[in-house]
This record gives sequence, C-alpha cells and structure tokens, in this order.
Amino acid sequence: MRILIIGSGGREHALAWAIAASPLVDKLYCAPGNAGIADEAECVPIAASDTRGLIAFCRRAAIDFVVVGPEAPLVGGLVDALEGERIAAFGPNAAAAVLEGSKAFMKDLCAREGIPTAAYRRFGDAAAAKTYIAETGAPIVIKADGLAAGKGVVVAADVAEAHRAVDAMLGARRFGAAGAEIVVEECLVGEEASFFALVDGANALPLAAAQDHKRVGDGDTGPNTGGMGAYSPAPAVTPALEGAVMDTIIMPTVRAMRRDGRPFKGLLYAGLMLTNSGPKLIEYNVRFGDPETQALVMRLKSDLLPALLAAREGNLNQVDLQWYEDAALCVVMAAKGYPDDPLRGSEISGLDAASADPEVKIFHAGTRREGDRLLADGGRVLGVTARGPDLAAARERAYRAVDRLDWPGGFCRRDIGLRRGG
Ligand code: AMP
Ligand code: GLY
Repeated sequence: MRILIIGSGGREHALAWAIAASPLVDKLYCAPGNAGIADEAECVPIAASDTRGLIAFCRRAAIDFVVVGPEAPLVGGLVDALEGERIAAFGPNAAAAVLEGSKAFMKDLCAREGIPTAAYRRFGDAAAAKTYIAETGAPIVIKADGLAAGKGVVVAADVAEAHRAVDAMLGARRFGAAGAEIVVEECLVGEEASFFALVDGANALPLAAAQDHKRVGDGDTGPNTGGMGAYSPAPAVTPALEGAVMDTIIMPTVRAMRRDGRPFKGLLYAGLMLTNSGPKLIEYNVRFGDPETQALVMRLKSDLLPALLAAREGNLNQVDLQWYEDAALCVVMAAKGYPDDPLRGSEISGLDAASADPEVKIFHAGTRREGDRLLADGGRVLGVTARGPDLAAARERAYRAVDRLDWPGGFCRRDIGLRRGG
C-alpha cells in the first residue's frame, strides 16, 4: 500500500516509525513531516491545512490510505474532503471530530448519556458566567469551547482568577471564535491518565493507557504545555479500571455518536481524572496523544496499520493487538523559552551517540536540517523514548540518552515517570 501521514510532530514521527515497519507498506509519505520523519518516510512540503494540495498529491502519488495526525485538520473536515474524493483516510469526519472541537458538545453528550464528567454550565455572556462563579466558588475550571492549541483551559484557584479568565475568553476574545462560548466546570481532584481506544463507528478496541506530564517544570510547576513526557503502562489503569472506562465512558460515547448519525471512526483519546468516586472524563481528543504515542508505539508488538485500516472499514472486532510487557517512557526535549517563546534555530548534535542503544528511539517533534546540521524548529523538539523491563529501567535509559545529546539550546524535565500524574 501507498500511505500518506499528515502532520509534523513527535506523534507523527512515532506513527511513521510504526507504520514504516508494516509489511503492507510499499511507500510511505509524510506531509509536511520533519527532519526525523524523513528517516522513515518521504516528506512532501504540503501543509496539513492545505486540503486541495493534499488531495492533488494523493492523486499524483496514488495514495491508498491517509493517516491524519493532528486535531485541527480533523475538526476542519479534512477526512470528509478526502473521502469525498474517494481517498481512504483514518480519523473522524468533522461531524464526529466535534467531540474535541466543541467542549460544550462533549459536555452535553455526557450529560445526556450519564457519562461521568465534571458538573458544568455553558455561558456566552460574561456577566452571567461571573455571577455563577461567584455563587459556586473556587477552585473552578474555565474552558474555551473550541480548539485553542491546548491553552484554552484555566484551572482557577480563586474567584478573581476565574473572573479574569472569563474576561479574557468572552470579553477580549483571546481565542477568537473558539472562545465565543465557554464552559465553566467543577474542579475534579485525583490522578490523571490518558486512555486510548481505536473506534470503527460501532466497536472500540482499547489500547495501552499512558500518563502524561503537562506542566513545563520539574515537580509539576510552571505553565501547561502540550506534554513534557509520558510513560506507559499507567500503573493506575488496572484491568478493572480499563473495564470501567470502556463501560461507563467509551462505549456510551460510541453508541451515542452512532445514534446521532455522526459515527466516530478513528482514535478516541479520553483524558481521565481518577477520582475517589471512579474515573471521570476531563476531555476528549479525537487523535493520538503527543507524546503518549511515542511511548505507546515502543510497546506495540503487532502491526499498527491493519488496526488503523480496520477502524475505517468497521471491522475492529476482528483485530487483536499484542503489546510487549515492557514499559516505555518518553522525555520531551524542548527549546529554551518553551512554551511562551521558544528559541528557534539552535543546533543539536550527539544524536547518533544518544540513539546507539537499540532500546532507545529519538522521535523528532520540531527539527529541520540545514546542510548537515540539525536545527531546532519548534517548541517541543525531540522525544527521547526508551523501552525497558520496567518503568525505572526505561526511565534510566531515556535519561542516559538525553545526557548524551549536545544541545545547549534545549531543556527537559528531569522527573518524567518519577511521580504519578501531573
Ligand atoms: P485540556 O487542555 O482540556 O487537556 O486541560 C488541561 C488540563 O487542565 C488537564 O490535563 C487537567 O490537568 C486540567 N483540567 C481540565 N479540566 C479539569 C477539571 N474539570 N478539573 C480539574 N482539572 C482539570
Ligand atoms: N499529551 C496531550 C495531548 O496529546 O493532548
């Protein structure tokens, strides 16, 4: 088969690495890709937002199957456009991607179906939101309805901070149309986990769970990021808990979406809070997690591609994915200044030494080549990922690789996998 992956981050590098290993693949492309993805796939300089350019390329290169990585093109209807041109694609159409594209939609669906999630109210009016917040008290969570590149959530410690978030979203329109409506919700307490399931419209196949580290600094300090590291398995997600998440969260969602005439096909990522009263849904994403996927693919024994094809075809019930018992852990290396103002263009060396260990894979998230120099080209730049018989061993390997890199312009957290959650 001739496959095209769309995206340019660490997640897409991990997907490219896994898919490149499939015996079903004759030729693998990635648009636009990055310097590391170029080791697994032929990169073509077409942006993920350039729907017409992507369709034209699929025709020219006789692409059999497209795997869409990031959420923005999914929410924007890229899969609808591709399938409309008879180009098979992995990922939800726009009607189903609304699970991530609108938090208000997701919350209303949960309320209707009795899916455990934080209590909430929707607001389009700042004064009404502020009155509700003053009555409810803090801590309280304020969310822009639409996509805001991971920055649309404020967990406010007091009412004043919550009011400022309301003003920024509804008043100053900090997130444009994505913040024309907000969701104000109860602050959940517990440990967080990322839960992934492939879905084919009717069936759902749980993948291994993972844990992410969202804050930029050691000890879970500083601003939220896209994710500074991840590991899998997540010890908190026991088989019993996985069963509860499938029964109370994933399957009711799959059934409701189907009943609504917007069947979900693709990867459903449930951000969970493991509370004293059971797992609750924080949010849905409609694509693979980044950097969780980097850890997941290192644990996957089976060929990923047939499972992605089955999610589109509707026969996931015939797929059985095998995993290594080993743990995997990914340390994200980011450019200094991330997430606010990452330094661009600094040189990275030492990659060969760092990836000499066969149990280590360095996924690229934001790199480019200039001659034979490798340069940082983004906020999150590398995902140094290692496998080991347990989490401690994987962690030690990953940091040993990190320490072999020579990149004065970069930094990482030193505590990935040391404490749960955060
Ligand atoms: P999101 O951008 O939706 O992934 O949210 C970012 C982070 O905000 C989550 O990973 C949680 O740590 C936190 N968060 C979101 N909603 C809640 C909530 N209702 N209660 C507590 N924390 C939350
Ligand atoms: N690691 C968080 C995300 O992919 O949204």
